[in-house]
Order: sequence, then C-alpha cells, then structure tokens
Amino acid sequence: MKVLGIETSCDETGIALYDSEHGLLADALYSQIDMHNDYGGVVPELASRDHVRRVLPLIEQVMEKAGCSREDVDAIAYTRGPGLIGALMVGSSIAKSIAWAWDIPVMGVHHMEGHLLAPMLEENPPQFPFVALLVSGGHTQLVEVKGIGQYQLLGESVDDAAGEAFDKAAMMLGLDYPGGPRVAALAEQGVSGRFKFPRPMTDRPGLDFSFSGLKTFTLNTVQAHGGKECDDQTRADIARAFEDAVVETLAIKCRRALRQTGMKQLIIAGGVSANKRLRARLEEMVQGEKASLYYARPAFCTDNGAMIAYAGCQRLLAGQTDMEGIRPLPRWPM
Ligand code: KG4
Ligand code: ZN
Repeated sequence: MKVLGIETSCDETGIALYDSEHGLLADALYSQIDMHNDYGGVVPELASRDHVRRVLPLIEQVMEKAGCSREDVDAIAYTRGPGLIGALMVGSSIAKSIAWAWDIPVMGVHHMEGHLLAPMLEENPPQFPFVALLVSGGHTQLVEVKGIGQYQLLGESVDDAAGEAFDKAAMMLGLDYPGGPRVAALAEQGVSGRFKFPRPMTDRPGLDFSFSGLKTFTLNTVQAHGGKECDDQTRADIARAFEDAVVETLAIKCRRALRQTGMKQLIIAGGVSANKRLRARLEEMVQGEKASLYYARPAFCTDNGAMIAYAGCQRLLAGQTDMEGIRPLPRWPM
C-alpha cells in the first residue's frame, strides 16, 4: 500500500510517500522558520498562507522523486490535529480534495501519533510493546505503547512542554526561534556545574513533569548576571545548566517509567529527541536498566510528512477508515 502523507500542523510543510512493502519512497519538507524568525515565534496567519503556497509543488516534487504517478497512490494521510487551526485546514482541505479527485481513501492522523511512530521508519525498529517519551514544542508525555492505537498515558507536563521551555530559555539568552537547537549549540561552549538548576518534580513519586519553574530559574539567573548583555561564557554556562536540568529530569522519569512498566524498550520522539545530550544521557541510562533506546534520524524528530504517511498507512492496514467528521481538531487528546 502506498500512502501520501501531508503534514501542515505548524510551521513546516512536510510531504512523503510511504510504501508498506518498500518503506519510504520519497519525502520533502519546506520550513517556514526564516519567515517567522523576525517575529520571535510562529505567526499563525502567515503559516497558513505559506502552506497554501508550498503544499502542491511539494506533492509534485515527492511524486516525481518517487517515480510514481497518481494511479500508484492507494491513500492519503494528513495531520488532522492538534496544531494551528488555519494551518491544519490547509492540509485537510488538500488531502480531502485529492482523495476525492483520485477516488482513494483519506485518513486523518494525530500529529503526536505520527511523532511516536517515527522511529519505526528507521532500520531495526522497536517491537511493541514499549515506553515512549514524546518531547516536542507542545507536548511532554510518557506513553505506554502496546500497538498501533493502543496508547496509555503514564505522565505528562502539568505546564510547559520541554521544547517550549527550550524556546523560552533561548529568548532569555538572546537566541533566535526555534530555540532548542540554538540553546544546545550554545551549551556546547558551557561548563557543567557552574550553575545548579533544579530537577523539577523528581523528588516525588509519579511520572508527570513541570518545566515552567526552570524557565523562571533561567530568567533569574540571566538577570542576576547582567541580563542579555552578560558575557558569552556566562550565557553558555546558563544554557548548559538549563540543558543539563531538562535532560536529567527526563532521564529520571524515563528510568522510572521503564521500572514501573517492566518494559525494556524506550523510544524518544518529537523535536527535543533530536537533542544530542538527551540521546547520550538516555543511552547511558538504558544500559544501566539493560534496556534499549530507539529514536528517529534528526530530520524525522521534528515535523515531517514521513511520520504522517507511516502512521496513516498503519491505521489503514489495520482496517480502519477515517474518523467521523471532516473538521480539523486543533485540540485533540491522543
Ligand atoms: O516536534 P516539533 O518539530 O514540533 C512540535 O510538534 O512541537 O518540535 C519542535 C520543538 C521546538 O520547541 C524546538 O526548539 C525543539 O523541538 N527542538 C530541540 C532540538 N531540536 C528541536 N530542543 C532541544 N534540542 C534540539 N536539538
Ligand atoms: Zn510536531
């Protein structure tokens, strides 16, 4: 089965063609980051308009790269939510129009399910069941995954998502959007241990997270050292302390989730799972637990069309049809 995936939930237009027999045939991505950079974050109206401009040329590009014509495509999968309503509407309208014109099924996919399954696109993928840590700009969740569509929430952030905290810390350090990769790069120059940031909610039982306190701690530390004008080494040391705190907090909760469920496989997905220090620390942690760690290539950690094509394909192969209704769902629990 060949499925064309369309992702337009935020600031990236992602298109891919996935084949259940031969794997990923082609994918393409257009990132709007440069356009939103001047505003310090994503401007929803600009995002929707840009998706309109990009989506059809990208579909043509992917079909050409894959050497496929419309007769080869068996179904369309698109991100139904959660995300920005206008951006989602572009993807859903295009997906439904193409499906209608080509007379093939269409499947609305949950964006976080896409992220969660992205490591399945890699060689030696994990086998069900496993524990998943979803860490993106909008979500921080630990999920027990028993199979496609069988997701049990173990814990989640009670306030900011980990990616959101990275983005806000970046702003405080005078870095551009999206902050995650930039904070990580600055932290490379930093010295671990000069500043000691808290590890929120690790001193009590449970698998929930909280990252808003780290944001305040970052702000206070920056201000105590001269604000954005503080010297480069201090900025780098603060970035390092912030990153260390997020990574260590996530590692503590992941270890707890593995022990609680008795599972031996941990997958990490979503934008923050591209973070090198997080991967290295979790690799070390799973070794101690005699467990294994799985993640997607960096380009498939952040938003992309391949994860949506894959997730939609799995649901269709399981005999599911599209969920009731045609409206995009900007808020949608997984
Ligand atoms: O999954 P994603 O592309 O979009 C959402 O669904 O939210 O995640 C974007 C988030 C942003 O907050 C970005 O700063 C963060 O992932 N991110 C990173 C890294 N790369 C992206 N955070 C830390 N380290 C990175 N290397
Ligand atoms: Zn995402």
